[in-house]
Amino acid sequence: MHKRVRKAVFPVAGLGTRILPATKAVPKEMLTVVDKPLIHYAIEEAKAAGIDEFYFVTGRAKSAIEDYFDVGFELEATLRERGKADLLDEMHSWLPTAGEIAYTRQQRPLGLGHAVWCARHLVGDEPFAVIPVDDLMVCEPPCLKQMVDVYAETGGNVVAVVEVPRQETRRYGVLDIVADDGRLARAKGVVEKPDPADAPSTLTIIGRYIIQPEIFARLEETTPGSGGEIQLTDGLAALIADGQAFHGLRAAGRRFDCGDKLGFLEANIALGLSHPELGDGLRRLLQSYL
Ligand code: UTP
Repeated sequence: MHKRVRKAVFPVAGLGTRILPATKAVPKEMLTVVDKPLIHYAIEEAKAAGIDEFYFVTGRAKSAIEDYFDVGFELEATLRERGKADLLDEMHSWLPTAGEIAYTRQQRPLGLGHAVWCARHLVGDEPFAVIPVDDLMVCEPPCLKQMVDVYAETGGNVVAVVEVPRQETRRYGVLDIVADDGRLARAKGVVEKPDPADAPSTLTIIGRYIIQPEIFARLEETTPGSGGEIQLTDGLAALIADGQAFHGLRAAGRRFDCGDKLGFLEANIALGLSHPELGDGLRRLLQSYL
């Protein structure tokens, strides 16, 4: 029996420079895809995977995230006055209860690995999930749930992966594979942003992780890597070197890179088209533009 994954870390302290000026005063994670901020999708996915403790690693100018998960007193009073009980219930249905959610700060954006390390005291000594919120996964079952189910079999570390064209490997962490059944690949190494010529495969990590707590000690020893940042991939590579199991799952579903302007637009269109109330109207609108 492998220890259950109960905790998720949401690293939300990045600067979001690829999507400026939208992110100058609004956190990237609060940008709205159709009718919900990105952070909302991330929490829903975590809950569907059985997570019940949510840890956010925030930074400067990110207080809107904390407000989003707070009770909006004026808003609730107004909705009550106007008899909008259904909206009130809806608002309560996804709000984490007091104590389920906690925040810590990454004072300087030193990289994803460093952001995860900042949550070490909150996570403690158990496996945990990491959800970079700007990677929006639209999967059924939800991506992290698929991974938790795999983890129940394999234990160790499990990441979500996709196949990319070889020329794109320098944007991702890439797996060095020892076994692959077409859905699940076992890795003997992982390299951050390799040149296409040196990449051990084209199977790359996207933003979902289940990680063993030993990563914290390994991240502590990690020196800044690619881009001068403390890379999560380097910590994962150290865990593999220590002999821990490491699997990449090709999750069934779609991924939208909402940290990129075009990816963000695509997510809005794709989710808009499949929205039960807005889909038909949006389809008609898009047709009139094309
Ligand atoms: P990105 O690589 O997208 O970096 O981070 P970024 O700074 O947010 O955006 P760009 O590249 O400047 O446009 C992936 C995830 O890791 C978090 C981000 O908030 C995002 O969710 N992150 C990144 C941190 O929390 N801290 C960091 O130092 C870096």
